[in-house]
Amino acid sequence: MLALAIFVSGRGSNLRAVLDSPKLKDLIKVKAVVGDKLYCPAFDIAKNFSIPIYSVGKKEGFISFDDLTILFKELKIDVIVLAGFLKLIPENFIKTFRNKIINIHPALLPSFGGAGMYGMNVHRAVFESSAQVSGASVHFVDETYDTGKIIAQRCVDISDVKSPEEIAEKVLRIEHQLLPDVIEKIALGKVFVEEFRVRVET
Ligand code: GAR
Repeated sequence: MLALAIFVSGRGSNLRAVLDSPKLKDLIKVKAVVGDKLYCPAFDIAKNFSIPIYSVGKKEGFISFDDLTILFKELKIDVIVLAGFLKLIPENFIKTFRNKIINIHPALLPSFGGAGMYGMNVHRAVFESSAQVSGASVHFVDETYDTGKIIAQRCVDISDVKSPEEIAEKVLRIEHQLLPDVIEKIALGKVFVEEFRVRVET
């Protein structure tokens, strides 16, 4: 069983897609859901699945990234999934869990990524660029926003969309398939980090 921690900041539809995925049922165990606030709607989903919830940060009532590192070692967390988590992860934490943190991004990286590029900001930029395709990317997390090696991508035709909201809807549908697919590949030992590229066995 692959032990996961899932980081969230908002509504948690990707968290739900992972928890509801029939193909992941016997492959993963989500041992922690971590948010950057004391409450976000995604926590309600975690509660329904009886998954322990943590709020990470520096303020009172929050767990620090250092203590989270200790906890994750105790829990033997194999993979950390950023599913709509919007805060930058500290360098130390990334170093400790190098190639064990993955992020889902709602566009085709390396375009439309970077600081400030999250949620509707991404879809608005894609819409205004007049790009004809968009999609979702899952990548390893490194020290800067959205620059880590790409594990998998899926694209959607957006040539006929009338608004950024329409793009968001189309992309989200794909995210809910792509993220469980990538987690399945990792759980099955089919993702390899090689010198220049990530190789995923079919
Ligand atoms: C998702 O679309 C995810 O790709 C995006 O936030 C949304 C979270 O939705 N992440 C980013 O923009 C990161 N740069 P959810 O809470 O319903 O899963």
